[in-house]
Formats: sequence, C-alpha cells, structure tokens
Amino acid sequence: MTAHAIAPTANALLQAGAKAHKLGDLRAAEELYQQALDSLGVSSSDAAKEKDTDVAEIFHLLGALRVQKLVGSAKDEEDDEEPFLQGKAAASLAEAIALLRCARASLPSTASDTARARVASSLGTAMLHAPKEQGLARAKGSALEEAVAILREACSLDPQRWSAWYNLSRALALFGLVKERQGLTDDVRALNEERIRALRSAQRLRPKHAGCLYRLGMACREKGEGDEALQMLGDFMTATEGDSSAGCLRRRAGASHWLAVLRGETTATAPPEYVAGLFDGYAERFDDHLVGALEYRTPELLAAELKSMKDTLLAESPGSRPFARCADLGCGTGLMGPPLRELGVEHLAGVDLSAKMLEVAKEKDRGYDKLVCGDLVDIFQEEGQATEFDLVVAADVFVYVGDLLPALLATSQSLTPRGVVAFSTEAPPRSGSANEKEGRVPEGGYKLAETGRYMHTASYVRSTAEACGLHLSKRANVVLRKNGGKPVHGQLHILRKVSEGLPS
Ligand SMILES: C[S@@+](CC[C@H](N)C(=O)[O-])C[C@H]1O[C@@H](n2cnc3c(N)ncnc32)[C@H](O)[C@@H]1O
Repeated sequence: MTAHAIAPTANALLQAGAKAHKLGDLRAAEELYQQALDSLGVSSSDAAKEKDTDVAEIFHLLGALRVQKLVGSAKDEEDDEEPFLQGKAAASLAEAIALLRCARASLPSTASDTARARVASSLGTAMLHAPKEQGLARAKGSALEEAVAILREACSLDPQRWSAWYNLSRALALFGLVKERQGLTDDVRALNEERIRALRSAQRLRPKHAGCLYRLGMACREKGEGDEALQMLGDFMTATEGDSSAGCLRRRAGASHWLAVLRGETTATAPPEYVAGLFDGYAERFDDHLVGALEYRTPELLAAELKSMKDTLLAESPGSRPFARCADLGCGTGLMGPPLRELGVEHLAGVDLSAKMLEVAKEKDRGYDKLVCGDLVDIFQEEGQATEFDLVVAADVFVYVGDLLPALLATSQSLTPRGVVAFSTEAPPRSGSANEKEGRVPEGGYKLAETGRYMHTASYVRSTAEACGLHLSKRANVVLRKNGGKPVHGQLHILRKVSEGLPS
C-alpha cells in the first residue's frame, strides 16, 4: 500500500492502522483509520469529490474492517449458508457498506483495475449480508442484484481475485433463491450455470479450498454433471478429513449422502446432520413451496385414512378414545397437527431433526403439546422412561430413512394394545411419474434414488412391519405431491399392533 498523496499525519495513521489490522488488533486499527479520515477532514458526503487513491484506501480499510468485525473472517463464512444479519448488527453493516461505497466513489479514473476489483469485491461481499428485511425486499431484486453486478465487475477487472469469484457464486446462489420464489425458472437456470462457471474459476485458483469443492460438487450434482460432482465431493471429503467443526460435519454428511447417490449405492438412512441442515435451510419456505407449488397432500390423505380407521376402532370398542395420545414422527412445521386434532388426538407430541422446522411449528401454533428436536425414535423415551402412544404417524418422513426396521420396532414397542401406525412411502418408478427414470428397486427392498430420497417396495414395508409385530390393515396408492410438474406416486400404510385377543 502507498499513501503518498495524503498529508503525512494521515499517512502515518493509515500505516499504523494497517499494521494493527494485520496483527489482528481490530479495535486499534479501526481507531487509527478513523483518525486518519478525521485528520483529512473528509466526510462520506464529499468522498465522490475527493477522487484520491489514498482516501479511497482509508474508506476501504475502515469499511472492510467493520464488515470483518460483524461477520468474521473468510474462513467462518464458509460455514455460513444464511449470511444475513439482523437488528443492531444490520444497522452497523449498513454503515460499513456506506464506507465501502465511499471507497468506490473516491477512486480516481487513474486507479488500477486491481485496486478497483479489490474495492468492488469487498463491497459486493458485504452486501451478501444485507439484513433480512432488506433480504425480503430482495424479492424486488434490489440488494442482491446489485451485489451480483458489483461482484461480476470485480471478477472481470481482476480474474485472478479468488474471493471475487467465490463470493460471486454465493451471491448468485442467493439471488437464484429469490428468482425461484418468483417462479422464474429460466432465470434460475441461467444463474445456476453462471454460479458453476464462477465456482470453476475460483476452484482453479484454489484447488483445495473446501468451501469451493463442496459448493461446486453440489452445484454440479444438481445440474446432472455426475462425474465432476463425484470428483469435487470426493476431493472435499479428503480436504476436510479430521475437521470436526459443526458446519464442516454437516457438509461432510451431505457430501457422503450425495456421493452414495452418485455411486448408485443404497445406504440405511440419510445422515441426520444432512437432514437437519437440509430442512433448517428449507423451513422458512417449506409450507409455501411444498403445499403451494408442489401440491403436497400427504397430511390430508393420511388423515382421511385415519378417519375410517377411527370409525372401525369405535365400532369395535364403543365409547373408547382411539387416538388419545399421538406421536408425529418427523413432524416438520406441523402440517399434520390440525388434522390430527380434528381426529380427536388429546395429547400430541412431535419430533424432528430440524430445529428450524420445529420453530415454525411453534410459531404457527399447530396444536402440539410437546416438540422434541432429535431423531424420530427419541420421542419414545422421556427422561429415560418408555412412553406409550395410541397412534404414531410419519408423513413424508420415511423418504429419508431406508431401513425401516429400527423405526418400526421402536414404534411397535411404544404402541398401546389397540395402537395404530400410519405413514407414507414413495413408490418405485412407474411410467409418467416424476421418478420414471430411476432404475429398478429390488423386489422386497428399498433404494436410495437419484433425488437423494428413498423408495420402498410395498412388500418390503409389509414384511418389515410384520417382523416388528405390526399388521397391515390398509394400503392405499396415492399421489403424494408433484415434482417438475409430474406426480410423485406413493403409498399410505395403515398398520395395527398385533395384540393377542384383539382383532388385527
Ligand atoms: C418432507 S418433511 C415432512 C414434514 C411433515 N411430516 C409434513 O408432512 O409436513 C420431512 C421431515 O422429516 C424430518 N426427518 C427426516 N428424517 C428424520 C429422522 N430420522 N428423525 C427425525 N426427523 C426426521 C425432516 O427434518 C423433515 O422435517
């Protein structure tokens, strides 16, 4: 860095600030940068009139430092899927962004492309953390669209700037989500392709960067570029061996799940950390997307089957309360809650791996007495004590569980003598269905499909249930929801506990 054009005092302050910054003393650095600016008497409002490389440098370093204080170092950002800041931090971020804008405005026309790219990269990256409220205003396109444009500019000014490519890929991913919510599928496709190009450029510059390998691997997988996805995700696993940070463990779980899919292997279950991460990221738009866009109907279809089962149980035992205590496995945002209450459930417990899905269930007050964050079998133990239920349901949950034996065994053991189990599974491929291109599911078995979800044969479900002391009372073929405009065919299974002396 050179600081020849500004007054000697400002220059000395700037140099001292940069030194403290390098040593990690952010507080001292911030004070020194601020003093340098004050000593020049330059305010934000006249930044554009100053047109001086060194003034731009002070604004840049001060702005970048403030962003660093708020969002941490580049390493932390790798773990950050949801980079938005809220409340007081959001206000401070707005000030930091304003400083970076001043840096941009005060760069003279003689400034080098590298200097311009550096400032643009910092500004575009800071804008990724725009507050959530602004994030929603992003639906109008503003903040993220600008971040994308500024980061594109940084990449074209200095194609060797790794951080510009990497952060452009992050901005494109977030902007893609906005477009997806607006239903603009062509825009989403174009943004995804550009994202892959940006990640490839970043990966060429830093071939072993874990965040880059993971993002590129997942983006290639989504696009159907299987070989490149296999390579990148495999390299990601090697690059992160022994890293036990929470964010990395989640990503490793996701990578190992998708590596199994890409290799055509069927695992026993999707890794819990992967499922939790997937649904934490989906929770906020789950109801709108699944029920609205994908016409998800499983809760109401299961409830209709349970209504007729209830009539049967009441005919067998008039005056009884067949579904008094119910467990909803993988309850998510609680869509099953209201129909279960309508069926006469008096005590309703839900369990889910995703804390964010449960937060939505709580916020929307969907009628749960108890919500547990954990694996589905955790609901059957309360403080070390086994709990009993009259009804156990699992709507669209066993698509994340291949081997159903542990879940059905624990369910059976927790059921009262007249207990009922009701759940859905995705059916093996058939012509015209969303999964028609999937390979065969082994007879009497299950398979991990290209979608990353499991499909079960009806005979597998039946024999596994029987091995757990559950008798199939009814199976119904249904359309669970849509995918890519095509129906996802599935089955509803209604089972009863096999208890001596009771009808099955
Ligand atoms: C597609 S959502 C369905 C949510 C809800 N049942 C509904 O019908 O709206 C699947 C849910 O199952 C949860 N899940 C998947 N595997 C699980 C497991 N092993 N233990 C607990 N929850 C699980 C996910 O976190 C997710 O919330």
